[in-house]
Amino acid sequence: MKVIIWGCGDFGRRVLPNLISSGRYEAVAYTDNNERLWGQCLSSIPIIAPGQIMNKDFDMLLIVVSSPSAAERIKAQSVQLGVSWDKVANAFLDLQFMDLFLDQRICFIRGYADWVRSKEIEGNVAECGVFRGDSAKFINYYFPDRKLYLCDTFEGFDSNDMQHEKAYSESFEKSRFSDQAFFLETGGDFVMRKMTYPKNVLIKKGYFPESMLDVEDRFCFVNLDMDLYVPMLNGLRFFWDRMVSGGCILLHDYFSDVFQGVKQAVDTFEREREIQITKTPIGDGCSMALLKD
Ligand SMILES: C[S@@+](CC[C@H](N)C(=O)[O-])C[C@H]1O[C@@H](n2cnc3c(N)ncnc32)[C@H](O)[C@@H]1O
Repeated sequence: MKVIIWGCGDFGRRVLPNLISSGRYEAVAYTDNNERLWGQCLSSIPIIAPGQIMNKDFDMLLIVVSSPSAAERIKAQSVQLGVSWDKVANAFLDLQFMDLFLDQRICFIRGYADWVRSKEIEGNVAECGVFRGDSAKFINYYFPDRKLYLCDTFEGFDSNDMQHEKAYSESFEKSRFSDQAFFLETGGDFVMRKMTYPKNVLIKKGYFPESMLDVEDRFCFVNLDMDLYVPMLNGLRFFWDRMVSGGCILLHDYFSDVFQGVKQAVDTFEREREIQITKTPIGDGCSMALLKD
């Protein structure tokens, strides 16, 4: 299927490698309303003006922008340009596209689990920020012999954390994620049904880090995916000293334009602990792995 991707920002960039490696899609062009981008390339794919869309042979126009109102405006604009409405898809509304944001992370989790096994590294595993369990199910699958703690309010972001984020991040405020209802449709039972080894899983429902204060354990792998500055900083404070040597904390959204608090949380943590953590990008354009010596 030939695809034009509308959106050259954070998410538009991330979607491309997975779109191509899925084998189901061919990206014929990017487009964007930012005219400074027209004529340039993104990962060798030409960026064309929206007005040139109809000159291209394509089957789907995939909108990949994080603001819901912008996505609506783009859809209307596309139809006005002559694109038939059934050719227009929104990567955030259609669940079939969710995998496009996950694949490389899954490869990393699989590879890290193999490494842990081969090096006989001990420790259990955790994820903070579970939502519907779409990354947690892979952690459970690839670490079949480890206890898996799954931490989430299962009721979306905490309102104080959101206020804090909005106070300094315009990009977050404008994004679809600033709607408190965004992460509501889930629950512990819903997530448990996706697990291959449910007996390994402990659901820790509630506000993190309070929800984990009764836990005394050591960890070899933790996926921190709570998006906002306050919980991500608390995640580092909670887990860093509980990581075994050779362990890894995977931080989602480190390179995100929308969730700029994630990188700031790492900077704050390094400053307050007076340490420089060994870090490596995992190649999904989004996540950073923090390695414990
Ligand atoms: C981006 S989603 C997680 C997505 C998931 N890892 C995946 O890949 O499908 C972020 C989640 O973090 C949770 N969250 C954010 N702050 C939290 C906190 N302080 N305590 C518990 N959960 C929190 C939200 O409820 C939301 O479900």
